[in-house]
Amino acid sequence: MQTQINRIGVFTSGGDAPGMNAAIRAVVRSAIYYDRKVFGIFRGYQGMIEGDIEELQLRSVSNILDRGGTMLKSARSKEFRTKEGRRAAYEKLKEKNIDALVVIGGDGSFTGANIFEQEYGIPVIGIPGTIDNDLCGTNATIGYDSATNVVVECIDKIRDTASSHNRLFFIEVMGRDAGFIALRTGIATGAIAIMLPEKKQSIEDLISILDKASKRRKTSNIVIVAEGDELGGAVEIAKKIEEQYSFYETKVTVLGHIQRGGSPSCFDRVLASQMGVAAVEGLLEGESNVMTGSQNGKIVYVPLDEAIKHTIKLNPEILKLTKILTI
Ligand code: F6P
Repeated sequence: MQTQINRIGVFTSGGDAPGMNAAIRAVVRSAIYYDRKVFGIFRGYQGMIEGDIEELQLRSVSNILDRGGTMLKSARSKEFRTKEGRRAAYEKLKEKNIDALVVIGGDGSFTGANIFEQEYGIPVIGIPGTIDNDLCGTNATIGYDSATNVVVECIDKIRDTASSHNRLFFIEVMGRDAGFIALRTGIATGAIAIMLPEKKQSIEDLISILDKASKRRKTSNIVIVAEGDELGGAVEIAKKIEEQYSFYETKVTVLGHIQRGGSPSCFDRVLASQMGVAAVEGLLEGESNVMTGSQNGKIVYVPLDEAIKHTIKLNPEILKLTKILTI
């Protein structure tokens, strides 16, 4: 292993995700395992600019593996998008002699990291931490599995009451630009329709699906709407349906930030632990400007600019299920 990296800074950035704490713990423990010092940067890039940085010890990350949220807090920093902001951040890192970074976050966080590395040459490795699962080069991001489990639990509860009252529920899930949460949870809960940003569907299409359902005497229906759907969120879509189709009584539930909370699933804890260790080992082996990705059970390093390309597509095989299983 190379020896030039001695002091690693770790931070979480953007929307929090269950499993971020497990990733922080893995970074801290592996850095100490390899005899390096490790520093927690609080509140993401904003905390970096303000010098909100503390050295972490083994004990600093005790009992966080099972906790949702992030002990390092998170933020979306406008200042870091400016050259002056990034210069201030660099000065603060230099004060502590931090010579490498691990950023746990999503595409916005990685875009910032990519620019920062190019401007200041500080090696950086990203760990994909977002419930949205919208990064290229990894089969899963940390938090996605936990969030989808929360969504499924909520929808199962809604299904109980929906079927008792002959109702049509529109349930909005997160995913501003991506329908991964909506698609997976739609399959897992037997939704009659799934509205996705990646797939054009009209109100007329939806009415025809509902009409078929009513003809075969289906009493309860769940429609999942990704928040970024072109037709609008669940509230807007429900309103449009109510105006044109009155067979079912319509209700709306927006799950919102409940999806980001709670204890991480076993899958996310293990993924975060693997990626945290891989991030530190990658830095010590000379990797930089890459993201840890999980591909078919193996941890790999994916260039940051590929990870954030937004070319990732919904799985066509899963999409096909929606057609076959909702007849
Ligand atoms: O990035 C994850 C995400 O949960 C998106 O799905 C959602 O649109 C967004 O964060 C909400 O962010 P905020 O907490 O800033 O409202």
